[in-house]
Amino acid sequence: MEIDKKHVLLTGASGGIGQALALALAAKGARLTLIGRRAEPLETLCTGLSGEGHRVLTLDLNDMAARAELAQKLGEQPLDILINCAGSNQLGWLSDQTEYEIEQQLRINLLVPMLLTRQLLNRLNPKQALIVNIGSSFGAIGYPGYTAYCAAKFGLRGFSEALRRELSNTSTKVIYIAPRATDTALNSESVRAMNQILGNRMDSPETVAAVVLRSIARERTETYIGWPERLFVLINKLNSAPVTRAIRGQLEIIRRYAIEARSER
Ligand SMILES: NC(=O)c1ccc[n+]([C@@H]2O[C@H](COP(=O)([O-])OP(=O)(O)OC[C@H]3O[C@@H](n4cnc5c(N)ncnc54)[C@H](OP(=O)(O)O)[C@@H]3O)[C@@H](O)[C@H]2O)c1
Repeated sequence: MEIDKKHVLLTGASGGIGQALALALAAKGARLTLIGRRAEPLETLCTGLSGEGHRVLTLDLNDMAARAELAQKLGEQPLDILINCAGSNQLGWLSDQTEYEIEQQLRINLLVPMLLTRQLLNRLNPKQALIVNIGSSFGAIGYPGYTAYCAAKFGLRGFSEALRRELSNTSTKVIYIAPRATDTALNSESVRAMNQILGNRMDSPETVAAVVLRSIARERTETYIGWPERLFVLINKLNSAPVTRAIRGQLEIIRRYAIEARSER
């Protein structure tokens, strides 16, 4: 899909990947509705965007009433692209996470994108529209310390596939993009230290944004970012045993950082 002059609703716009995406989309001529909870970074971002007609809507996506008001606030003009980018996670063993933490991760990474998409379906441009769900490589590889986040992102991938098929006789397409570790505030100091020790590479948010723009342009159904993560995803799908063995070798290190991450909170 061409990005020029398209109306894009972007959740998670105040975050690392969201901000990079907003800048890249605006530079290509998109008109953006930016969503997040923190007004200050959203307003600063909005002021610095190229082009005109951008705006900020500050809301907590977990709040049902605020979500319901969103469609009214959007006004008359149809939405061309909906990008579900808001998300959060917490490194920690399942037994150490509270019910609230588990619920929150499932909510913002899975339930909110589903409910928001459902709510905005009738606001999408009937001629051509795109729903972009930002997943994770943890949406295809179950990883210790991220049980709730993995469950949510696996779910988001399933939701994307099912909705894509449900809408396959319409002009709305659904794409799913899975970044690997990315240099944003999502990753705490412990997670960064763990990634360094394990040799996990981190992309810049700008790299992720560039891939998202390419995936939108090509309407690529599923995109996994980074090598060797793409290879692990493929192997894990075909035969998960070698991936399980490799992760078993990392388990003590992950456990150590999961305990450290818990004490940071
Ligand atoms: N960074 C990574 O390593 C990585 C890797 C793979 C996938 N991803 C995915 O990429 C997406 C963006 O992550 P990021 O790295 O940019 O994270 P980030 O910098 O922590 O930003 C998270 C964004 O989500 C928003 N958000 C969270 N809860 C919200 C709520 N209840 N209501 C409204 N907005 C909410 C935040 O808004 P406020 O800050 O204003 O509250 C912020 O804009 C997420 O879906 C994440 O799962 C990230």
